[in-house]
Amino acid sequence: KSEPLVLGIETSCDETGVGIVRGHTLLGEALASSVDEHARFGGVVPEVASRAHLEAMIPTMERALDQAGVTLADVDAIAVTAGPGLAGALLVGVAAAKGYALAAEKPIYGVNHLAAHVAVDTLEHGPLPEPAIALLVSGGHSSLLMVNDLARGVTPLGATIDDAAGEAFDKVARLLGLPFPGGPWIDKAARDGDGVSITFPRGLTAAKDLATHRFDFSFSGLKTAVARWVEAREKSGEPVPVADVAASFQEAVCDVLTNKAIDACRANGVETLVIGGGVAANSRLRVLAEERAAPYGISVRVPRPKLCTDNGAMVAALGSHLVASGIAPSRLDLPADSAMPL
Ligand code: KG4
Ligand code: ZN
Repeated sequence: KSEPLVLGIETSCDETGVGIVRGHTLLGEALASSVDEHARFGGVVPEVASRAHLEAMIPTMERALDQAGVTLADVDAIAVTAGPGLAGALLVGVAAAKGYALAAEKPIYGVNHLAAHVAVDTLEHGPLPEPAIALLVSGGHSSLLMVNDLARGVTPLGATIDDAAGEAFDKVARLLGLPFPGGPWIDKAARDGDGVSITFPRGLTAAKDLATHRFDFSFSGLKTAVARWVEAREKSGEPVPVADVAASFQEAVCDVLTNKAIDACRANGVETLVIGGGVAANSRLRVLAEERAAPYGISVRVPRPKLCTDNGAMVAALGSHLVASGIAPSRLDLPADSAMPL
């Protein structure tokens, strides 16, 4: 008998995603984004995102099923992001999943968005060796997690005490005049810049901070330092070297993320580092993680950039793992929980 066919629905932020997975194989996926509608506000507007999900939900579902060449009747389970995320946005996905589950008499799994960012890697690299350390870096979260058992919950080791890494990318992009969301634009601009040309601060890396915040992050001081540097340059009348600022900022973020991630692996005797979330798409982060892991025999797993940012495949991947691990489905009255803990 072949492995179960699991459909995943993601609506926690501005992407409406549906993915269909059998075992660790991605059979079909579709994505609709409201990112362009938010761009002029410089950030995601919750009400706009909810409406866009509502409009995109059914067509996105149909496109994913088409691409996989299956119908809802063929699906064995439906997984949906139940949190964390924007409350109104989550509700659209959860309500849709309940409707489909009820109509087609399928079990439903309410899943954690952050765990899904970790699970998506299995679609690219197969089963995740446990224990693993996960570095989760997105627009809303930046955490280091101990993954002993992905199906039953993970243990946070540390997290950002202020801005998320993706948020820092977006804010710095804005002050450099780059479009929203800024991460991919900084990544691109940085390719023509010199990452060691400007020394920006590395948050929570001083000896006294390491004593209490060894696996925590802080990016708001970095963001302020970049803003000050750019202001000073503008006042002097000289042009702002956008590529060098982008590269030096990116280097500061990636330096701290990779150092702390490798430290977490070594401190826990773990040989697998998995990186997930939108910022995992960053080209410098991927290179630096590999470079720093290699001397310790730590293997780094990062899915392809398209799977790093929000999508439905990641939800289906986690759902598939839950089904395979014999986890019981959720109740049909499962709530959306905008602040769902890991
Ligand atoms: O995981 P995600 O799609 O949504 C959340 O759950 O937050 O992450 C979005 C974040 C944004 O802040 C975006 O700027 C950042 O991921 N991002 C990147 C790159 N691609 C997306 N940051 C740095 N480099 C990239 N290439
Ligand atoms: Zn995300």
